[in-house]
Amino acid sequence: MLRVDELAPGEHRVVQVGKRSIGVFRVGDEFFALADHCPHQGGPLCRGRVAAAPTSGLPGEFGMADGAFVACPWHGWEYDVTTGQSYFGPGEAPVRSYPVSVEPAAAHPAAAHPTTGRLPGPYVADTYDVAIEDRYVVIDTAGRRTRADDEGDGR
Ligand code: FES
Repeated sequence: MLRVDELAPGEHRVVQVGKRSIGVFRVGDEFFALADHCPHQGGPLCRGRVAAAPTSGLPGEFGMADGAFVACPWHGWEYDVTTGQSYFGPGEAPVRSYPVSVEPAAAHPAAAHPTTGRLPGPYVADTYDVAIEDRYVVIDTAGRRTRADDEGDGR
């Protein structure tokens, strides 16, 4: 998961989603995601350069088309980042693309930390109840403290 402000328009980044390596591309204010696996011969497609496609109607005249293409660093095949379609090797399969959505932070399934606003990560360290008895700090290792315990205590 990326925050919107982590990618400026025109930038892209490769992220790990489980065992998958996926390139996330920002084109203007839209986001697209492609598998980081080139259908040609398996190169790391999303680590290549991204650029608009040059166009030419007549000799000596040229321009740049809308959109963005990523060029595989191994052999230079170019893929439209919005569809995964290559325009090299007609008839070859397109790269796998994934749906992308931009969601508010509130849509995250876990609540943000009440004072820092940080979102919870995947791990929770074991915590234990602590009491002060006769000027000694006593740690109760018999039970594991949960977040629900903390919320019930008002901590
Ligand atoms: S492996 Fe990507 S162009 Fe050949």
